[in-house]
Amino acid sequence: MISPHERIIFALDVSQRASALEWVERLSGHVGLFKVGLELFVSEGPSLVEEISSRGERVFLDLKFHDIPNTVAGAVRAAASCGPFIMNLHALAGSEAMRRAAEAAKEGAERAGVEPAKLIAVTVLTSHTADTLSELGIQGSPAGAVHRLANLAKDSGIDGVVASPMEAAMVREVWPSGLIVTPGVRPAGSSLDDQSRVATPSGAADSGADYIVVGRPIRNAEDPVAAADAIAEELREASR
Ligand code: C5P
Repeated sequence: MISPHERIIFALDVSQRASALEWVERLSGHVGLFKVGLELFVSEGPSLVEEISSRGERVFLDLKFHDIPNTVAGAVRAAASCGPFIMNLHALAGSEAMRRAAEAAKEGAERAGVEPAKLIAVTVLTSHTADTLSELGIQGSPAGAVHRLANLAKDSGIDGVVASPMEAAMVREVWPSGLIVTPGVRPAGSSLDDQSRVATPSGAADSGADYIVVGRPIRNAEDPVAAADAIAEELREASR
């Protein structure tokens, strides 16, 4: 069983290496993973991921690959070699892309002599509504699409999915052993920022999330370390 601190993924939503590394140093031991997303990765590249990993920290590499299977597999193989603990791709890339990516993650890690990353899929971006999905020719509710894509991910040999707090319980039913990573988490009383569908840390844990992604509630707190510790405490209470 992982400890409550280890279940917190801090979103490194900054664009510069120095700032990212300051946050890593500050929150080391208080959160379990650091999420490197597109902005930071495009700015600073794989060497930053290697640097964070070399400090003994775990990285969630949030690059959401979506391309033809061969290209996705190549990107996953290359990304795997910088040693992330978790990385992701879009389920909409399809079952073959997910199957090939699962193999590529293992190959890339083996070549680099690192542990293979856990590979998870984004089902439907939470920015979508039934209307914007319909524009893309995907009919029905976002929840229906999430359900179908979570099933497809489960049958494609990857490890789990990213799921909003509103979807986590449904995904947990579809995929009891899948890894679920949940963003949109807000401790009670904290600002929603631009998130609309949110859950508290304990609410997300109760819905079946293994890991929760938290950015601004920690980054903008007066005392970020205390904010992370309070979230861990809430997760500890929830698991009792
Ligand atoms: O600051 P905040 O806690 O809202 O940050 C959440 C992080 O999770 C951001 O990096 C955001 O891009 C990411 N994310 C999200 N909702 C999703 C997928 C990713 O908030 N559905």
